Amino acid sequence: MKNGFFITFEGPDGAGKSTIIRMVANELKDVLLTREPGGIDIAEQIRKVILDKENIAMDARTEALLYAAARRQHLVEKVRPALEEGKVVLCDRFVDSSLAYQGFARGLGIDEVLSINQFAIENMMPDLTIYFDIEPELGLQRINKNKGREVNRLDLEHLEFHNRVREGYQLVLKKFPERIVKIDASREVEDVFAKTMVLLKEKII
Ligand code: TMP
Repeated sequence: MKNGFFITFEGPDGAGKSTIIRMVANELKDVLLTREPGGIDIAEQIRKVILDKENIAMDARTEALLYAAARRQHLVEKVRPALEEGKVVLCDRFVDSSLAYQGFARGLGIDEVLSINQFAIENMMPDLTIYFDIEPELGLQRINKNKGREVNRLDLEHLEFHNRVREGYQLVLKKFPERIVKIDASREVEDVFAKTMVLLKEKII
């Protein structure tokens, strides 16, 4: 039985999501901070295959299935046990990334990608999702400035792809309005962090 609280964070590349989540985890203390794709050994291995810049031949359905496989393993090995212990779990990306990136931006269909993910997650949807919204152009500028950040196969996609990702997220938001809350991530980090904390305190305390 799950009695913890499952919070996921979403957004186009360069929204500053990972920085904010680290700040949130520091502030909230007793939480499990993890990420997708990855978070445990098998899923980190799958992440390498998906994001390898050499793997340009990867088919969109293969990509969707690999993300779902990494998600499944991460969920059963790490997320579900923590939720069963009553923990608050903060996860950097989850199923909505697949809906926006593979479902919409790659053109596989949001409902089709949701259905393969339902097989992988068996109804373990997040209790709350925070979506950091940013203009892809600004997001990509931030990535280019942040030299320490890994540049992966998806970062190398054209601006048009990243615009579709953002459009995909807007559709996902409309599909799950009761679960997903949008925050403007184009502001200064401190400002975005403060807004995120207000929201989290409202929902989990
Ligand atoms: P990250 O940069 O947030 O670690 O995520 C790696 C990339 O993988 C990022 O470009 C978003 C992408 N992604 C998908 O396309 N589908 C997914 O289901 C997930 C979790 C990530």
